[in-house]
Amino acid sequence: MLIDLSKFEGFLESMSRINRLQLEIRDEAGEVVVPPSSEKGPDQSVDLQPFAQKVMEGWSFQRASIPGRAVAFGVPIQQGGRVVGSLLAYGASDVEMRPEDMEAFLAQTARLIEENGACQREIEDITDELSQSFEDLHLYSRIATQIKTLKFSDSMLKSLMEEIMDAMRSDLAFAELPERRMHNVRVVKPFLAHKFKDPAALVDGLVDSIPAEAPSLKENYFILNHSEEQPVFRRLHPEPYRFLAVKVVHDHHDYGWLGLFSMNLGSIFRQSELRLLTSMAEQVAAIIANTDLYQDLERFVVNVVKSLVHAIEAKDVYTRGHSERVNLYCTMVAEELGLPEQERQNLHWASILHDVGKIGISEQILNKPGKLTTEEFLMIQDHPTKGFNILKPIEQLSQSLSGILHHHERYDGKGYPFGLKGDAIPLVGRIIAVADTYDAITSTRAYRPAKSSHEALEILEEVSGSQLDPSLVELFSRLIVEEMEDVEEEPPPRTGTLG
Ligand SMILES: [Fe+2]
Repeated sequence: MLIDLSKFEGFLESMSRINRLQLEIRDEAGEVVVPPSSEKGPDQSVDLQPFAQKVMEGWSFQRASIPGRAVAFGVPIQQGGRVVGSLLAYGASDVEMRPEDMEAFLAQTARLIEENGACQREIEDITDELSQSFEDLHLYSRIATQIKTLKFSDSMLKSLMEEIMDAMRSDLAFAELPERRMHNVRVVKPFLAHKFKDPAALVDGLVDSIPAEAPSLKENYFILNHSEEQPVFRRLHPEPYRFLAVKVVHDHHDYGWLGLFSMNLGSIFRQSELRLLTSMAEQVAAIIANTDLYQDLERFVVNVVKSLVHAIEAKDVYTRGHSERVNLYCTMVAEELGLPEQERQNLHWASILHDVGKIGISEQILNKPGKLTTEEFLMIQDHPTKGFNILKPIEQLSQSLSGILHHHERYDGKGYPFGLKGDAIPLVGRIIAVADTYDAITSTRAYRPAKSSHEALEILEEVSGSQLDPSLVELFSRLIVEEMEDVEEEPPPRTGTLG
């Protein structure tokens, strides 16, 4: 039934007061609505049903003599172009009422009921639409907040598509990104999994079948409300379905599609759903573009770092590979200490770049085989501060700066540039100091040949507690010994490539 005729009880009551006739409404199923004060219950009206049927089928005013009711009149009630019930009036035969007056009265009353019903439906439609819009808005804001905080990933896309699939009552949702095939996501309703034997092939088929000339593609979407409409789609799945796909586009770059597939043909994709999926596709495209940009920036920083390392090592022929080896030792220590990810990153960059300040020192001093003058020594001592100043403008490295600045502090406070003591020296600086000292001893320098790992560990032991943090020397020595045992007394690897 299109309208709820039971809501007209009060209305019938008012109309019944106008004349002596009894009024009632019957819907298609024979349900009877009478005024609340009516003495006649619905059970006593059963014999009016054939007359009500006649009124509804005749689509017009009817009059009849009914046993026990004397006289009855009826008009159909219409809604949405079809008859949904009847309005009947009956009474004793002595009621004097001309049929034409009765027809006019009932027709007007029926029209009031019809208009009221239309209003009722409109209000219900508006309420439905509003509540759906509210749900959409709620879903959109929740997802938008969620995906803004995430980096582009498979799990992010998967949970996004699951939410969209549920919210839009679909059976399958997908993200098809040809340039990033490894990130393609297809999610299906678990209880319908048996109907999707090969979701990837189905999605490929759906996307490939979107006609290039479809006008909606100008607005970056494609809708198919029934697969039977187009043979190319019909053959993709044994059951009829509907399908909606929206392009993932950002700045004229086409990344692929987000799409929905539903075998429920009882409804169609609504405008609000199209808008919602479009917004999601825009968000996803922006995230992909931002992630690309971020990765480009990260690659750029890595390349800048590589160039800086090459620049340092080109100046001092004896320190080739030093930065990278110090980095490897520091990574071992960080793992053993179980440092959090952020601190590992800080140590990673600081260890690779710890000597970057040597760029500002002349090659004659760096490669001088003899004893350095006081002035030259002061220049060498300035390299942590120079390194700090060189890298200060690079925001991505800001948290690694303290490790670079303090890698020549001594545990007893006699180091440089600040003479910090013990735990006042940042941990990253203390770790680099141990790794740096060990690698310097085991490498050939302008003024002396390389020493063995065993000799180097002995020297570390000697300076433990004075130059270096004793707990870190102990941990480091243990790691080096384990490493030596693993490679049968061979020293740890001396070469490699920067990541
Ligand atoms: Fe240094």
